[in-house]
Amino acid sequence: MRSHYCGEIDRSLIDKTISVAGWIHRRRDHGGVIFVDLRDREGILQVVFDPSDDPEMFAVAEGLRSEFVIRVSGRVRHRPDGTVNPNMPTGEVELLAAELEVMSPSETPPFHHDEHASEELRLRYRYLDLRREQMLGNLRLRHEVTRALRRFLDEEGFLDVETPMLTRSTPEGARDYLVPSRTFPGRFFSLPQSPQLFKQLLMISGLDRYYQIVRCFRDEDLRADRQPEFTQLDIETSFMDEGEITALMERMIREIFREVMEVELPDPFPRLSYAESMDRFGTDRPDLRNSLELQEVADLVADVEFKVFAGPAADPAGRVAALRVPGGSSLSRKEIDGYTEFVGRYGARGLAYIKVNDAAAGREGLQSPILKFLTDDAVAGIMSRTAAESGDLVFFGADKARVVNDALGALRDKVASDFGMIEESWRPAWIVDFPMFERDEDTGRWIALHHPFTAPSVNDADALREDPGTAISRAYDMVLNGSEIGGGSIRIHTRDMQNAVFRLLDIDEQEAEEKFGFLLDALRYGAPPHGGIAFGLDRLVMLMAGAESIRDVIAFPKTQTASCPLTNAPGDVDEQQLREVGIRLRRKPGAET
Ligand code: AMO
Ligand code: AMP
Repeated sequence: MRSHYCGEIDRSLIDKTISVAGWIHRRRDHGGVIFVDLRDREGILQVVFDPSDDPEMFAVAEGLRSEFVIRVSGRVRHRPDGTVNPNMPTGEVELLAAELEVMSPSETPPFHHDEHASEELRLRYRYLDLRREQMLGNLRLRHEVTRALRRFLDEEGFLDVETPMLTRSTPEGARDYLVPSRTFPGRFFSLPQSPQLFKQLLMISGLDRYYQIVRCFRDEDLRADRQPEFTQLDIETSFMDEGEITALMERMIREIFREVMEVELPDPFPRLSYAESMDRFGTDRPDLRNSLELQEVADLVADVEFKVFAGPAADPAGRVAALRVPGGSSLSRKEIDGYTEFVGRYGARGLAYIKVNDAAAGREGLQSPILKFLTDDAVAGIMSRTAAESGDLVFFGADKARVVNDALGALRDKVASDFGMIEESWRPAWIVDFPMFERDEDTGRWIALHHPFTAPSVNDADALREDPGTAISRAYDMVLNGSEIGGGSIRIHTRDMQNAVFRLLDIDEQEAEEKFGFLLDALRYGAPPHGGIAFGLDRLVMLMAGAESIRDVIAFPKTQTASCPLTNAPGDVDEQQLREVGIRLRRKPGAET
């Protein structure tokens, strides 16, 4: 139907006869001449309808409106002097229409391209939203990234293998999406939270190197970087240790950035232990573009009369940390109150601060509501440890370590962004040496920090049982600019160790047999040492695209409440369908909870 894409037309085609097809981006009437900006996937071309050429066609052109689909043939010509648009790839030329076919009219769309439409509206009319150049660009980028990833992995000998969607629960820490079985009434499949166990089985099968670009399903509270169904680049290898796997994976990410973005990432990526990352940044996914750091000051304030500090300083589970803000003494009372409210969202009960007006003047040069509670030694210690200078401000958090880390970790990012201190760069890192377990605060039980199949750094199950609290795992996370883009580990490949970990996690023999019996069985028949990783493809592409949300790099995403305004999913099902799968609703859809 057409000879070229609109975006391909340039001066090399002047005087050639071409035909193009697409959507009307804009239509202008200019004193008897009609200009149409015609848009397709590759760009926009100016088309001119002149009444003197063909009055009949001109009459049809007068009826054209935004988003009509048309086909036009004609001759390419240079634009008249003074009308060249250097900002457009096709800006030197225009198409003088000789033939016009209206292929499909359009009603007035609910929003226009350059309008700021609500996300609800954008998702409801997603097919129109995806007509925007930026959205199209995001999907194209995603395609380029997956193409480059596939090429890299193919060259490295990885086999692409599919794994089931209708399966049993894999414990990745979220709630499962369930699918009722018709053939076994009362029983359910789970949609996979990840292909974790299948990829381990593939290693036991001798596949050696596996990858899959695969949808995962997690029913969890959603944020800007979380979707209920999202895509992983899932990878598993045999006979490689964590050093070899992380080296290969960072080489892959470096190549993708070079190929798709023309960006050179550091070689090697820096490595931080979990403990160091929590200590310096309050988080295990630090944004290293931000140079602000937390400093532990518990030892300096253990004896002060200020209970807010002295209490957590004496508590083994407590933390007292300082955050120096260069130039922060200019903050007003109101701004400080704003930050206090901000850290409150993370559970902090206050936000003590010291303003440094004159660093050389000792106590006299400082300004703070808590100064009177602090000894000279404590003040001097804080000033020297934070290296605070005149004009700075030091914030403090004192509480359980978890609260302080959450609050000051988030404050660190917020302040740096408010002060314009986040540098323009790409800062990847590996976070390693995670604890195997952490205690669930409510139940006191151990929970796996990564997942229950991650190997501990000790090879001996007895040693692990003796002191699970200090055990370090062989897990690694890849972090980029404050986002966790991937996580993986070396896996347990012996039954003995796998059973020991299940027991520590309070999964008894019967439950382990019922849920993971197939894995425990497989471990009897020659399991190679193996390990792998999964990258959040949506997150990776979101960062590369500079998008605010992963929804902007997914063609048809869900809303924050896990629904789809386009199809109205989740939807009702009729009584007959429910009966077939043996389900009776306890609550009618839409009824109050
Ligand atoms: P993990 O649970 O860390 O590991 O997931 C791997 C990566 O997937 C991304 N991710 C998400 N992206 C969008 N929405 C979500 N709801 C979401 N949840 C996770 C993150 C994360 O780093 N089986 C293990 C991997 C392994 O051990 O090999 C796993 O799934 O970027
Ligand atoms: P208060 O003694 O409650 O008036 O608090 C004195 C100062 O300490 C105020 O600036 C509070 O914001 C701050 N503060 C109170 N609790 C904490 C806490 N847990 N961590 C850090 N600062 C706090």
